[in-house]
Amino acid sequence: MQLDHVVFGYGDRAPVLDGVDLELEPGTVTALVEPSGSGKTTVTRLIARFWDANQGAVRIGGVDVKDLSDEYRAAQLSLVFQDAYLFNESLRENIALGDPDASESEVLHAAELAQVTPIAERIPGGWDGSVGEGGKLLSGGDRQRVSIARALLKKAPILLLDEAIAALDRPYALPSSRCEAKSRCPSLSIRPKPSPTPTASRSLSTAASPRSVLIRSCSPATRATPPSGPAASKPSSGSLAAVM
Ligand SMILES: Nc1ncnc2c1ncn2[C@@H]1O[C@H](COP(=O)(O)OP(=O)(O)OP(=O)(O)O)[C@@H](O)[C@H]1O
Ligand SMILES: [Mg+2]
Repeated sequence: MQLDHVVFGYGDRAPVLDGVDLELEPGTVTALVEPSGSGKTTVTRLIARFWDANQGAVRIGGVDVKDLSDEYRAAQLSLVFQDAYLFNESLRENIALGDPDASESEVLHAAELAQVTPIAERIPGGWDGSVGEGGKLLSGGDRQRVSIARALLKKAPILLLDEAIAALDRPYALPSSRCEAKSRCPSLSIRPKPSPTPTASRSLSTAASPRSVLIRSCSPATRATPPSGPAASKPSSGSLAAVM
């Protein structure tokens, strides 16, 4: 997955991303950590093609996302957003949406990985219990767990997590087994740059067991450096620093 000198602004506004380069290799997990409002969610929107870059290219497997069919692109991506939306269906059905062909044991396995099982043990009706419209019968953290289980169930090569664990009340680490399956990588985990509080630090360290963390080192930063190893760990002016 690659951002190649991407420039993007919403409407006539100044660019949010101004010449960003980013390359994520298969089999890697990367956390993008930047201040609020700096464009992390925007990166995921461009990858998912909710918006198109004004200049530069976003590529998946070397192909510009504009040249991919909607079906193919959708099959490549699993997305988990901060505000997880659930359907007015059962707990089981909300997870199974990730892969309608999945077996019962696969659904339950994904649920277990995402720590959904305790929810089923708690809510009326268990796995067949309704979560309500939008998931309103569950807490924000529970909704995120269900959303993560749905994303893990989907057989998509790329997993994008945009503050996907922000509402969880305890540390959650993306199952390491996920990246043992080549078809399940790379992953990009989005986190706001942490304040120096124990809670924020804990969230960052458990966000997605990242192999690399991209941290914007100064503002306004415009250019990202690919996570190319320990040599790239020194922040440089106006760049994203890669930390292994
Ligand atoms: N739909 C939109 N229309 C206009 N401006 C937008 C839109 N979405 C985001 N922006 C602006 O683009 C900038 C980047 O927003 P974005 O949501 O990508 O930041 P972020 O890094 O994800 O922030 P946070 O950490 O708060 O989630 C912000 O200034 C925001 O106000
Ligand atoms: Mg965001």
